[in-house]
Amino acid sequence: MKATVIGLGYVGLATSLYLADKGIQVQGYDIDNDKIAKIESGKPPFFEPAIEQLLKMRLNNGFEVVNDLGDSDIYFITVGTPSMKDGSIKLDYLRNAARSLGKTLKSKEGYQVVVVKSTVIPGTTRDVVRPVIESESGRAFGHNLGLAMNPEFLKEGSALNDMANPDRVVIGEFDKQSGDALEKLYRQVYSDLSPPVVRTSIINAEFIKYASNAFLASKISFINTIANIAQRVPDADVQQIAYGMGFDKRIGKQFLSAGLGYGGSCFSKDLKALVSFSEVLGYTPELLLKVENVNEGQAIHAVELAKQQLGSLNGKKVAILGLAFKPDTDDIRDAVSLRLIKALIGAGTKISVYDPLAIGNIEEEMGTAITYSKTAREAIRGTDCCFIVTEWSEFRSLKQADFVTAMRTPVIIDGRRLFKPEEFSSPVRYSAIGLGPSVKLGV
Ligand code: UDX
Repeated sequence: MKATVIGLGYVGLATSLYLADKGIQVQGYDIDNDKIAKIESGKPPFFEPAIEQLLKMRLNNGFEVVNDLGDSDIYFITVGTPSMKDGSIKLDYLRNAARSLGKTLKSKEGYQVVVVKSTVIPGTTRDVVRPVIESESGRAFGHNLGLAMNPEFLKEGSALNDMANPDRVVIGEFDKQSGDALEKLYRQVYSDLSPPVVRTSIINAEFIKYASNAFLASKISFINTIANIAQRVPDADVQQIAYGMGFDKRIGKQFLSAGLGYGGSCFSKDLKALVSFSEVLGYTPELLLKVENVNEGQAIHAVELAKQQLGSLNGKKVAILGLAFKPDTDDIRDAVSLRLIKALIGAGTKISVYDPLAIGNIEEEMGTAITYSKTAREAIRGTDCCFIVTEWSEFRSLKQADFVTAMRTPVIIDGRRLFKPEEFSSPVRYSAIGLGPSVKLGV
């Protein structure tokens, strides 16, 4: 089977390489020449564990980069759908991809399937992709041309692992033949694994993606709300509360890590898009608005914890350990570190930061407003407070003695529960989001 992937961003490249590794002949296409040049030289245009290795293995050995859309059985559209100012998604890349694909399909014979994998608001495949391709190709979906919507659920930092172990495959189909073709492809790729395959309408598939991300974001804001209450209650600890909740199968253990909240390119963007879509329909989804509000407030809770320890922060030196929106990525899109840096600058602090991967990206954004360190130890030197913002495992090597020796005032605000409170004693003062006062050792 031959597949073409249009848009070699994060989802497109991960999908291409995984399918190629499973014996599908994949052609990758992108309009960005810099991106193409990087990929052709064996370098992924973004950081993701194991992707570079797989690219080197599969480049021109199952996966080929092409300048023109060629012959394929299946065409996946994986272009980006970034946020606009009003929260709705920008469809320019999708329209362009549909236009090029429509032109290509004009001269093709036999049966092909067009699969939208980009995250799109319900109705977009029907109202945008379908008419553009039909008018450019002069062909009609349902007659030798299939149309499907197949959302992805990849997480940054574990994309290939997520591709290899999907909880489910969702196929929204316009025509049964396209659903059959896509299911056949996935059954071949996941031969032994047999993940549940959900066959549904295109509208529902588009919805499933948004509802899943909105639910996961809600789960995080929910546990952060409990954390914000627990933090005010002596002896309470949200980590233990979440642990006790997670055994209930209806609740589940995952996505109950309280802290500084979610960042990244998906949750906030998708929530905003869903809210804006809903408002156009005449319904304001209050719950989803609150999920975002709670998330945006978490950085301020961390600043409040620091104030409880140090009084006014004006003129204080603070360190931020971790800048990426989560570990194992250099991605700072919507990262809480940016919100925290702005709040701390507003409070009059001098900030030194460190991250194993994302420091260059933050420097581009923040310039000379903050100081950049080469190691965590260098970042905390001479500071009054250390914020743990991303739970990089290398930070775990920092011990009580490191904080005491390096810092002017050894105050730790753990935004990700990287450490256990019992690892510290006086003179270190350790606080964490969701940890009630009397268990803060050293206070
Ligand atoms: C998310 C979805 O998980 C994925 O299915 C979708 O395709 C894209 O969006 P991603 O943004 O890559 O993936 O990362 P994820 O691991 O979901 O984490 C998102 C954010 O939530 C991170 O900032 C993380 O630190 C935070 N998070 C996650 C919490 O604060 N608490 C949790 O319990 C889990």
